Amino acid sequence: MMEVQILQDRAAVAAQAAQIVAAQIAQKPDCVLGLPTGETPIGMYDDLAEQCAAGKLDFSRVTTFNLDEYYPIAPEHPQSYRYFMNKHLFTRVNIPMEHTHVPGGQGDVDEQCRAYEQAIAAAGGIDLQVLGIGRNGHIGFNEPNDAPDARTHRVTLTENTIEANSRFFDSPDDVPRHAVTMGLGTILDARKILLLATGAEKFDAVHKLLAGKVDLSCPASVLLRHENVTILCDRAAFEGV
Ligand code: PGA
Repeated sequence: MMEVQILQDRAAVAAQAAQIVAAQIAQKPDCVLGLPTGETPIGMYDDLAEQCAAGKLDFSRVTTFNLDEYYPIAPEHPQSYRYFMNKHLFTRVNIPMEHTHVPGGQGDVDEQCRAYEQAIAAAGGIDLQVLGIGRNGHIGFNEPNDAPDARTHRVTLTENTIEANSRFFDSPDDVPRHAVTMGLGTILDARKILLLATGAEKFDAVHKLLAGKVDLSCPASVLLRHENVTILCDRAAFEGV
């Protein structure tokens, strides 16, 4: 089942997403969350941090697994996703750092991918997976035409994604050419999925998804195979203006 909510703007999407995550934590205080990076979830993380600071939310028993990380990149690099997560969420809430997991950006990739899958399984699987969506329909770093049943693996980034992400680096040449990502199969194993889409540049990807047919040129469309998906869209992403 796919539920689509069209909300006024980015702020409304952030508030609603934070409410859904907070409800998950309230319902199961030791839940396992799958988390995204990118511009889209920053407002949600701000809201969650505020709720935690106000004593309304307790992350002390929560475990998290991030979707992806550049490869190669050092965790202390300001553009690494580990750095992003520490800055936007982990250092602002009461989650023990050892409960937080981000795929390894260094070392033996295959071994790290195996270990990541094992760690997710050992934690009992992901209760709620939050996702952004790329302009090309990617989720995590699963680019168009990646295998729909893939587990955590190394990918080569497309030119489209390198260009989209170069805004965070000094130049496109500085963007790592590879990444480690949960596979579409890993994502589909989550019990619930929450996808956030904001901004007119997501219009095409959102409408390919809402077309209702699995089409691997839009990786997010594999979510049609999942039975519990909520999509939060702002008007710009839904209407394209
Ligand atoms: P964004 O990235 O939130 O920065 O737009 C989303 C994505 O590429 O998955």
